[in-house]
Amino acid sequence: MKFFIDTADIEEIRKANSLGFLDGVTTNPTLIAKTKRPFMEVVKEILSEVPDKPVSLEVASTDYQGMVREGEKLAELGKNVVIKIPMTVEGLKAVKYFESKGIKTNVTLVFSPAQALLAMKLGASYISPFVGRLDDISHTGMDLIRQIKTIKENYCFKSEIIVASVRNPIHVLESAIIGADIATIPYNVISQLAKHPLTDIGLERFLKDWESVPEKPF
Ligand code: E4P
Repeated sequence: MKFFIDTADIEEIRKANSLGFLDGVTTNPTLIAKTKRPFMEVVKEILSEVPDKPVSLEVASTDYQGMVREGEKLAELGKNVVIKIPMTVEGLKAVKYFESKGIKTNVTLVFSPAQALLAMKLGASYISPFVGRLDDISHTGMDLIRQIKTIKENYCFKSEIIVASVRNPIHVLESAIIGADIATIPYNVISQLAKHPLTDIGLERFLKDWESVPEKPF
């Protein structure tokens, strides 16, 4: 499974990238707004940190023409730019347009298998079902991933499934068990993945016992 980071914070992207397993970056207008920095400044920094990895940048228009205009501008910023487009009828038209031009798209705000089916059928490179937001309204977000995976396999669709709105390590683990292509993970969840209280307790004990070993070589 590929690991993307879901953030526009350049320091978080640098830290995750230095761990050596970062496969891409996803952003959205909320994440960009959180940086309180000018859009182009943030985006250029991200693209120079990960010049060879897909970086999803979202359009802000909701009509087809506007999405095409904005997406074309974003695509000029780098070969690794993926145009993130909301899952709407206008959005799907824009997906078809960009994919026919060889520009990759990521269909965002996917909350049902039927939406995923449409986006995959139209050839979106990536689709982003939001599991955390479904959990928030008492649905089981991961069920959506299972259903989309079945549909993808039934018809050999090429779109990669990005598990989005990831809130905890269990979401990541379940994504891997289901066999999702990608999980886009916030930095705090990436750090939690490496942690286990028994690891900390075990290490503390080893270090304490090490003190009593005679004639240590280091
Ligand atoms: C997906 O690409 C979105 O940026 C993201 O995962 C949304 O997550 P949230 O529901 O935590 O805002």
